[in-house]
Amino acid sequence: MIKVLVATEKPFAPEAVNGIKNIFDKAGYQTILLEKYTNQADFIKAVENVNGLIIRSDKATKEVIEAGKNLKIIVRAGAGYDNIDLEAATANNVVAMNTPGQNSNAVAELAIGMMIYKARNMFNGSAGKELKGKKIGIHAFGHVGQLVGNIAKGFGMEVFAFDPFIADEKIKDLGATPVSDVKELYRNCEYISLHIPANEATKKSINYDLLSQMPQGATLVNTARKEVIDEEGLKKVFEERKDFVYLSDIAPDCKDELENNFEGRFFFTPKKMGAQTAEANINAGLAAANQIVDFIEKGIATFKVN
Ligand code: 3PG
Repeated sequence: MIKVLVATEKPFAPEAVNGIKNIFDKAGYQTILLEKYTNQADFIKAVENVNGLIIRSDKATKEVIEAGKNLKIIVRAGAGYDNIDLEAATANNVVAMNTPGQNSNAVAELAIGMMIYKARNMFNGSAGKELKGKKIGIHAFGHVGQLVGNIAKGFGMEVFAFDPFIADEKIKDLGATPVSDVKELYRNCEYISLHIPANEATKKSINYDLLSQMPQGATLVNTARKEVIDEEGLKKVFEERKDFVYLSDIAPDCKDELENNFEGRFFFTPKKMGAQTAEANINAGLAAANQIVDFIEKGIATFKVN
């Protein structure tokens, strides 16, 4: 019998777990659940006898992959797959996939939600600001970026996008004004919303040079990954600019320093929660389960990333 481990330190909504189980029941597979585990050793132990693995931000390290002697496929139920050691997966003949687009709306709503929360002074009763009429620069115009753009337009914001992988015409068709130079995006927009993946090219790429260029009332919104921020540069901008605000779905490593020195100018979720809605969990979780069945039964590997 095919066995699939669903290893989620941050569990899916119950409806998503039931949906995943139904898909595997119908296929005649066994579902093994490992939720809220607190140490990596439990994950490594649980993967030992399984053929498939569904994860979220769980770390599919070389150790995990090598422990999975019968492992054929890992699906990251979500967009970013920087938590999978792709080299180890390939070396061990394990196919790695993601589920692009499935949880994007939840992430986009969080990005806008954090913007409103801060623009209204965290609902503390004092007079805040509106989003209407402000410029938002979307850094990478993929699934999440496009949805942020749509919602921002609904709020009456002016939407700009930088994405070297998407043609200007396409960006225009999708409702944003294309910007060909990333520095111009930062120079032009009070709000910047980050949607780049974390990889060797992007880590620490959001730096002092970009952030210090932002106009008065600058707000950086990060629902991507903390690793894309150059934290030394971030701190320097905080020091130099009283108007600068940072909103992030997961705190930076320098959180304590920011807390001690720049109170009230940032907001960080206590746990990464961009994709933490029932809808996103159902979309991504069920897509992951279906992708595993399609791969095992028919060899379909549409969303393979290694
Ligand atoms: C993603 O890459 O899809 C998001 O960061 C969501 O991550 P999560 O599944 O850990 O919430």
